Order: sequence, then C-alpha cells, then structure tokens
Amino acid sequence: MSNSNVAECPQEPIPEYAFIGRSNVGKSSLINMLTGQKHLAKTSGRPGKTQLINHFKINNNWFLVDLPGYGYARVSKKDKKTFQKYIRDYFDNRKQLITAFVLIDIRHRAQAVDLRFMEWLGTHQIPFAIIFTKADKLKPKAQGEHVSSYLKELLDGVWEELPPYFITSSAKQTGREEVLDYIEGINRQFYKNQ
Ligand code: GTP
Ligand code: MG
Repeated sequence: MSNSNVAECPQEPIPEYAFIGRSNVGKSSLINMLTGQKHLAKTSGRPGKTQLINHFKINNNWFLVDLPGYGYARVSKKDKKTFQKYIRDYFDNRKQLITAFVLIDIRHRAQAVDLRFMEWLGTHQIPFAIIFTKADKLKPKAQGEHVSSYLKELLDGVWEELPPYFITSSAKQTGREEVLDYIEGINRQFYKNQ
C-alpha cells in the first residue's frame, strides 16, 4: 500500500520496520535485496524516486516500509518540504513501528543531516539501527575503516552507546541474512509477548 497520509496507512497491529535515509542512499535497492524481489520497490539513479510511504507486508507477519529520502540538495525545495512532512508525521504517529533502519552510504563521513535525524529519533525515543549501504564500492579493509570512523564520530558526538549496525551491499547481496535475522529475532519476541 502506498500513501501520502500517515492516517491512511494500514492499521494491522503487526510489527513494522522503516527504512530511511538520504535520497539515493539505496533504500529501495536494499528492500528489493531483503525481499529477494528485484522490482518491488522502485529504484533510480535520480534522487527523489520514492515519493510516498510504501508499506510491504512480509509473510503476513510484519511490515517493511520504504520512505522518501531526506536532505538531498537536488530535490526541489517544495518536494523536500513535502517529504519532510510525510516523514515527520510517519514517525510521530506510527505506534506499530519497532525500529527505524537509518541507511548511511558507507563511503561518506558523518553528515550533519543524518546526525540530526538520528538525534531527532533519539529525542522521540524511536529505536534505530544503522545500515551501511553500497559496501561493494569499497575494498573490505576500507569498509572496516570507514565504519569504525563513522561509529567513532557518533561516540564523539551526542551518543554514549552505539546502535546496532549492519554492513550491506544490494549489488552483491551482502548483509541480507544479518538484517533479516535481526528483524526475525525482534518479531519472535513481539509475538511471544502478545
Ligand atoms: P530515493 O528513493 O530517491 O530516495 O533513493 P533510494 O534511497 O531508494 O535509492 P535507490 O535504491 O533508488 O538507489 C539509488 C542508486 O544507488 C541507484 O542507482 C542504485 O542502483 C544504486 N545502488 C543502490 N544500492 C547499491 C549498492 O549496494 N551498490 C551499488 N554499487 N549501487 C547501489
Ligand atoms: Mg527509493
């Protein structure tokens, strides 16, 4: 189901996981990789492809949510405002949301827009995990170095504790099991406590 209004999103009380990050970071590609369906979420080299709140129901058991990207300079000011409103409304209102996966391009140093977003999640008490994307763009040694320095920047900033994190590549299908196992573990707990 695709919506521009959070009030019209599906109401089933099943656990929900949102994928969020800068436009073009690889959210839709990651969703396709996780679900094993190449064309489920629309992807594009042009930022701003995903423009709605997209719910995908997985195994009748949980929702995976693809959101529009935030903070990309090449998206028009008007679009940026609209996306920001969807995103804010979404996070302010979705009681079903268990965890937000914040996607970070593994090649980049910590960017203010991502750090601000994670802080905003923190102040709204929304649990999150980091997914580093596009790992195939770096050699294995550089992957480790980039991740360590990213995490160090978090600890040097406002965070006292690091969130769970995953290293993924949709191009090379890396990190799929790790992310799915993490979600499944939480779901198991969720249904046990019902
Ligand atoms: P918006 O919907 O515009 O916010 O973008 P998005 O975050 O959904 O990104 P999308 O999945 O559409 O991918 C953006 C671009 O990055 C596309 O050209 C993808 O092919 C490319 N891309 C995504 N994941 C990977 C990856 O793991 N490796 C490589 N090399 N390229 C990737
Ligand atoms: Mg997208």
